[in-house]
Amino acid sequence: MVPLISLNNGVRIPQLGFGVFQVPEDQVAGAVTTAIEAGYRSIDTAAAYRNESGVGDAIAGVPDLFITTKLWNSDQGYDSTLRAFDESMRRLRRDVLDLYLIHWPTPQRNLYTETWRAFEKLYADGRVRAIGVSNFHTPHLQRLFDEFPTTPAVNQIELHPLLQQEEMRKVHVTHRIVTEAWSPLAQGALLGRVEITGLAEKYGKTPAQIVLRWHIQLGNVVIPKSVTPYRIKENIDIFDFELAPDDMTVIAELDNGTRTGPDPDRFNVA
Ligand SMILES: NC(=O)c1ccc[n+]([C@@H]2O[C@H](COP(=O)([O-])OP(=O)(O)OC[C@H]3O[C@@H](n4cnc5c(N)ncnc54)[C@H](OP(=O)(O)O)[C@@H]3O)[C@@H](O)[C@H]2O)c1
Repeated sequence: MVPLISLNNGVRIPQLGFGVFQVPEDQVAGAVTTAIEAGYRSIDTAAAYRNESGVGDAIAGVPDLFITTKLWNSDQGYDSTLRAFDESMRRLRRDVLDLYLIHWPTPQRNLYTETWRAFEKLYADGRVRAIGVSNFHTPHLQRLFDEFPTTPAVNQIELHPLLQQEEMRKVHVTHRIVTEAWSPLAQGALLGRVEITGLAEKYGKTPAQIVLRWHIQLGNVVIPKSVTPYRIKENIDIFDFELAPDDMTVIAELDNGTRTGPDPDRFNVA
């Protein structure tokens, strides 16, 4: 049901996955199980979400999953990255991870190149099937292009109709990096906009389905989060309709640069 997108090393990622940011450890296994039952095969977590163990409970023994986790800022650096990876894998109870991301560049700390060197080792050792980054802007990506043989497979960035990231999407296409959209629903903030509710009425879909369908048609990988079973099911039920070009334009016109999260150039928390 969910299309697969090829990464630059041939590994394939489901175009729609399930995000678990802000889902407490004691609720996450239930939410992930509901998602798997609804047809999701890709789960996006992070060491910083403090719910990798619960995700591990839900995915144990389930075949054909694509699991992403992320290295937190305080673990950047060569040796600390290798240690943090082992800890994430212990919590997730995986032998091989599908996708490992540097969560934020934290540019003032200037550790992301050392971190990428460790990511390349994990990849070369077969511990992870693909390596990528998150929240990287062009200058951060450029240092990796200049200093390393491996181009990130994915850049996971904040992206939704209020923050459409056209420039970053162009950079990604040039370098064969897949664009993965975090907070694809702007954490719900845009679902009441008349442009979105009008399209929902026109297509007989919900506002969230309209926004997620827009992402799919742009070519983004998308990872909506919900702890509400009917929404979890609704968010994957978007492959039976198509937005017309004029309606894609209606959504394109909502771009106003609004972020729900921090600006990666200034976020240096460890
Ligand atoms: N790399 C990064 O730095 C980064 C940063 C943020 C997020 N992420 C990833 O991206 C994922 C998604 O982002 P997000 O969690 O920030 O926000 P989101 O997916 O844009 O929105 C989640 C919010 O929307 C609500 N919602 C979900 N489906 C809905 C529907 N069909 N109708 C109405 N409301 C709905 C959810 O409510 P309920 O849960 O109450 O149903 C929740 O409050 C995260 O879980 C995480 O995996 C990555």
